[in-house]
Amino acid sequence: MPDSRPVAVVTGAAAGIGRAIADALADAGHRLALIDLADPSEAARGGLAFTGDVASAADRDAFVRAVEDRFGGADVLVNNAGVSCIAPAEETPLDEWRRVLEVNLTAPFALCQALGRGMLARGRGSIVNVASIAGLRGVSDRTAYNASKHGLVGLTRTLAGEWGGRGVRVNAVCPGWVKTPMDVADQAAGGYVDADIEQQVPMGRFARPEDVAAAVRFLADPQASGFVNGVALPVDGGWTADASWTSLRLRKR
Ligand SMILES: NC(=O)c1ccc[n+]([C@@H]2O[C@H](COP(=O)([O-])OP(=O)(O)OC[C@H]3O[C@@H](n4cnc5c(N)ncnc54)[C@H](O)[C@@H]3O)[C@@H](O)[C@H]2O)c1
Repeated sequence: MPDSRPVAVVTGAAAGIGRAIADALADAGHRLALIDLADPSEAARGGLAFTGDVASAADRDAFVRAVEDRFGGADVLVNNAGVSCIAPAEETPLDEWRRVLEVNLTAPFALCQALGRGMLARGRGSIVNVASIAGLRGVSDRTAYNASKHGLVGLTRTLAGEWGGRGVRVNAVCPGWVKTPMDVADQAAGGYVDADIEQQVPMGRFARPEDVAAAVRFLADPQASGFVNGVALPVDGGWTADASWTSLRLRKR
């Protein structure tokens, strides 16, 4: 009997938030097609595991061909792979700016195009872009990252309008800070410490990869979120909603 389980593509799925998203979508009954710079076999649960760079057109083409050959296309695309870049604006090298934009914005657009065509032809699909609260607000020393994530939110809203009428929903999740290898690297570079983040969040903690994965699972599922299209959903414990000053926020805990 043909396997009728939906197929979910997740980028950057070998570690961190992407790994949690792959686990959540597999638990929800999806077959997985994963791509990462590091071999994502362990996360793939017998699905497609592709080692490659989403910013490389050749790698993307080979990955999309492999998805089509094996599954005939994707029902869900989660553009999660991303890189950070912390530097004062006036010192951010242009080649680093370009790399961040390539990985965080151009690659998601190219994958939306490549896998979205099949979704449009079949009249159904859900795309979830992993942006950030840095796609909703400015944060100093992150010009390239924030511009890429603001761009990703803009891409999400535009595709939602353009493709929603043809059955393809496009949404974004905007996590607050999450404890992943990205956070460890950023803290090691002296960017911030745990308390900086915890004081900023009304709920008093970092986001967990599972918090983000649960939101992605909701947006991927047409039964749960079938009329949700074009949102940039903060998964941030209330950070972006709260304009209280720090001492006031802390008094409310
Ligand atoms: N960690 C946070 O605090 C945080 C907050 C908000 C949003 N995000 C976003 O969530 C996403 C995942 O972040 P994370 O914290 O899990 O990062 P991470 O660095 O811990 O893991 C990212 C994964 O993506 C892979 N990857 C990176 N560049 C790639 C490329 N060019 N091609 C293929 N794979 C690539 C890495 O190998 C790694 O497995 C990113 O888009 C990030 O911007 C992270």
